[in-house]
Amino acid sequence: AKTHYHDFVIQAAKVKRLCKTQNVITVNGQFPGPNLEVNNGDTLVINVVNKAQYNVSIHWHGVRQMRTAWADGPEFITQCPIRPGGSYTYRFMIQGQEGTLWWHAHSSWLRATVYGALIIRPKQGESYPFAKPKRETPILLGEWWNANPMDVIREATRSGGAPNISDAFTINGQPGDLFNCSTKDTTLVPVASGETLLLRVINAALNQQLFLTIANHKFIVVGADASYVKPFTTSVIMLGPGQTTDVLITADQPPARYYMAARAYASAQGATFDNTTTTAILEYKSTPCQAKCLSSKPIMPNLPAYNDTTTASAFTKSFKSPRKVEVPTDIDENLFVTVGLGLQNCPPGGTNQTCQGPNGTRFAASMNNVSFVLPSNFSLLQAHHKGVPGVFTSDFPVSPPVKFDYTGNVSRSLWQPLKGTKVYNLKFGSRVQIVLQGTSIFTAENHPIHLHGYDFYILAEGFGNFDPKKDSSKFNLVDPPLRNTASVPVNGWSVIRFVADNPGVWIMHCHLDVHIGWGLAMAFIVDNGVGELQTLEAPPNDLPVC
Ligand code: C2O
Repeated sequence: AKTHYHDFVIQAAKVKRLCKTQNVITVNGQFPGPNLEVNNGDTLVINVVNKAQYNVSIHWHGVRQMRTAWADGPEFITQCPIRPGGSYTYRFMIQGQEGTLWWHAHSSWLRATVYGALIIRPKQGESYPFAKPKRETPILLGEWWNANPMDVIREATRSGGAPNISDAFTINGQPGDLFNCSTKDTTLVPVASGETLLLRVINAALNQQLFLTIANHKFIVVGADASYVKPFTTSVIMLGPGQTTDVLITADQPPARYYMAARAYASAQGATFDNTTTTAILEYKSTPCQAKCLSSKPIMPNLPAYNDTTTASAFTKSFKSPRKVEVPTDIDENLFVTVGLGLQNCPPGGTNQTCQGPNGTRFAASMNNVSFVLPSNFSLLQAHHKGVPGVFTSDFPVSPPVKFDYTGNVSRSLWQPLKGTKVYNLKFGSRVQIVLQGTSIFTAENHPIHLHGYDFYILAEGFGNFDPKKDSSKFNLVDPPLRNTASVPVNGWSVIRFVADNPGVWIMHCHLDVHIGWGLAMAFIVDNGVGELQTLEAPPNDLPVC
């Protein structure tokens, strides 16, 4: 196994998109950031130097971080942010994961431009569970704002309203040629007739689930979130922010140019949505075609409608592990966690915050009616490790305070969540089940729920209120998929299981950044304080302090 050393300099750089040049925060001046390529079993040592004007931290999304919680990266959870002028070196190992993950800033909305792929190939000397593709390419789906995303979220935080939606979706940083001034920079994906191509698709968008399809070509899905899956064929894939999907395509069509296109899957009831389509071009490099094909207009695929929940849900339900797996049974911890929006009354007192949300409120979101508040002078991990009192409370509830018809017409009185930095303690080694129940409070939406430090099995998903009697019979206890982000369906639920075998403090949150800011998060502490494996190690010397 190898050790890979990288320097990530966080710095502003000029980037031109949609006819306009902007100063954006980048890694090493690159947008999107550098793609890291490793083999399973390798170690990464990444020295992050902050030369930008904002606090920053970097998260290695989906990396298990076994016993390396200090390297996980979310600000105020496992570390204080790296201040302007500061630096921090992340050290961690890839253990047993293969496929595609990614990295991104985990600090306010910086991840709009600070992200890149983390490509994990099989261990040296080992091979893929499918014929080695002739070529491969990462496909990073993102969002672009004409304004500075940090200003967009600052303004929304001040006003209490919803932040402005982005001005374009992007593929590998480019909006594509359906947008003004974007034609010559459209992402090109070259292929030769007959070749098989591995696409490592990552949804790095801040706030949108996305459908992706390629005209006249079929995808064979072979992996997701750095686990292999039982291969299945589909013409369209859907990813929530945070999720990755590895697909094979075969160049079996007449040599020509074909659009690869992505657009929003926006399930929110009555919400406005961005229906613009971002494109890249799959370009056959075959000889008889060359000049003629390359000048022809690309063929456009059909994309599902923005609210096509049937297609989205059929797709997420198609995932299975490649073979029988050991699903944790005899559950020790059974949590029922509502995930949804809310509205906060205007805070009394003289802040510069205002209440320009619906009916003079501020937008909020919660898990089990707790709107998560990040600490500000310690990270949870530091506070837990040192035993600093008053930073968090250990009373995150195992179920919502009152039972109600979660996906029905929810009474106004249930719309205002409590605020708090509440964690849930999990005993090392405990077998955990979480029912993630979407709510229709204010509006029903999909929520891509991401858990740090773990992969989990998704046993089932469905619509309406989860019913333990009826729905437990739907659990896949044989070959459920292993993921780090679950797309909880709009007005529906997902059930996940994992074994708490990794000490640390681990945030679980909605990966729509607008929802994190509103409080759709909580954290688990896994640390028994006994036995070498069950306890957290001491922090690295250069860990940023607040
Ligand atoms: Cu991809 Cu907590 O994040």
